[in-house]
Amino acid sequence: MNPLIKTTQRVADYGEVLTPPHIVKAMLDLVAQEADRIDSRFLEPACGTGNFLIEVLQRKLRVVEKRYRRSQLDYERYAVVAVSSLYGIDILEDNAEECRQCLYETFDAAYTALYGDKTKTACRESVRYLLKRNIVHGDALSLQTVGENPQPIVFGEWSLVNGSLLKRRDFAFHEMVQQASMRELPLFSDLGEEVFIPEPVKEYPPVHFLELAHAFADEL
Ligand SMILES: C[S@@+](CC[C@H](N)C(=O)[O-])C[C@H]1O[C@@H](n2cnc3c(N)ncnc32)[C@H](O)[C@@H]1O
Repeated sequence: MNPLIKTTQRVADYGEVLTPPHIVKAMLDLVAQEADRIDSRFLEPACGTGNFLIEVLQRKLRVVEKRYRRSQLDYERYAVVAVSSLYGIDILEDNAEECRQCLYETFDAAYTALYGDKTKTACRESVRYLLKRNIVHGDALSLQTVGENPQPIVFGEWSLVNGSLLKRRDFAFHEMVQQASMRELPLFSDLGEEVFIPEPVKEYPPVHFLELAHAFADEL
């Protein structure tokens, strides 16, 4: 079976043809500086099983390992930041779940290889929690979740503050997309142009990066 195509019906219904690794790598090489920056945020609005996000995470984790491997706590902190920077949406639930699982395994393999039996359950739980939140089973066209009770897609922005704390601010995806296009302003600019700065729909007190799953347990 061609691993880039699951069924011809899914190709017809959802355009599901996954991108082969050599193309993923070549495309990410075009933005290599960003893909290597631990906290640069990537959103893939039709993420499939995560081919692009997995490669970005591998690149970021290599940087984390190079810089911080001598301190396990530093490695954990920045590995969690790397995971928190990745966002995906897929309309097919099995793809969203496979994407989360593949990202988790990418993190877990790197983490376990470095620290073996010194690895922490709390760190794995933070990563699992972030992937549950950041990888959304949703429709990137309607900008809503998919299911019995569709809701606007809301993404959490995670920023490291005061050393080990993560500050979460939630943003409604439709506001970011619509406001930016209505005002014809870019969301990002390296050239010093005016950019659209969205307003969060909710802010949370900072939480230790190893306590995310516990602090937001009611969402899981
Ligand atoms: C061409 S595949 C690309 C997958 C992945 N980005 C890759 O390159 O391997 C398109 C993906 O978009 C998803 N998809 C189709 N319509 C979508 C929509 N309206 N919102 C979110 N995802 C959608 C499909 O389920 C499929 O996984």
